[in-house]
Amino acid sequence: MRILLLADIHGNWPALQAIQEQYDFCLFVGDLVDYGPQPRECLHWVRRHAFFSVRGNHDHAVAQRAATNGRNGLKYLTHITRQLSSQLLNSEEIRFLAQQPVSRYVTLGDARFLLVHGTPRDPLDEYAPADAELWTRRLAGVDADFVVVGHTHLPYVLTVAGRTVINPGSVGQPRDGDPRASYAIWQDGRIELKRVAYDVEALVQQIHKSPLPEQAKRMSIEVFRTGTGNVAELIQPGR
Ligand SMILES: [Fe+2]
Repeated sequence: MRILLLADIHGNWPALQAIQEQYDFCLFVGDLVDYGPQPRECLHWVRRHAFFSVRGNHDHAVAQRAATNGRNGLKYLTHITRQLSSQLLNSEEIRFLAQQPVSRYVTLGDARFLLVHGTPRDPLDEYAPADAELWTRRLAGVDADFVVVGHTHLPYVLTVAGRTVINPGSVGQPRDGDPRASYAIWQDGRIELKRVAYDVEALVQQIHKSPLPEQAKRMSIEVFRTGTGNVAELIQPGR
C-alpha cells in the first residue's frame, strides 16, 4: 500500500500540482488556506483526492472568521492574506473547513494512523520539532503506529518507543531553506520524505494578479522563492 502524506498546502496551487505520485490513499493534515493566492483550487483538490483530512490552525481561523492584526513577517502575511482567503472562498467552502475534524484516527491495512495538524495535546497550535523527549510525552495515550503532523513546515521522521511521527513538511510554503514542495510517501511502513521543484514563477504571476498590497506581494514572493520563513529579516512591512 502506498500513501501520499501532505500538509500545509496554503493556497499554493502550482506547488500542489507538481506532486505527481501514484498512491492508494492521500492523507492531508491541515492548512489549506492563507499565504498563497489559490485556496479554492487547493480546497477542491483535497476534497476530491484526500481520503481523510484534518483542520489546520489557518483553516480554523478562516472558518471562524478570526480577526488578525499581525504587523511583521509571517504574521503580517497571515493578516493580509487571510482577508484574501475569506474573499475567495464561498460560504460552502468555508463550511468545509469548519467541518474538518481537528484530529482523527485512520486504519489502513494493518497500520493505524493518527492525523493531527499540531500535536495530540494541542491539535491546532502546538509546534513540535523532531524532539524525542517532547514526543515521548505527547505520544502518551496515543493508540497509533504512525502520527502524521504538520504546522512547523519542517519535514522530519522520528521514531519514539516503537511509534513513528511523520511531518511531511509543507507543500506550499516550506521554511527550511529549500523552496521545493515537500511531502512524504508511506509505503508498507517505510517512509520517504520527498521534494519536487514547481513553477514558482507561475505562482508569482498569480500573486501579482491578486489584490494584495504591493508590500505583501514582495514579501510573499520572497518567502516562496527562498523557502524561508524569516521574512521579517528580509523586508520590514511599513505601517
Ligand atoms: Fe501552516
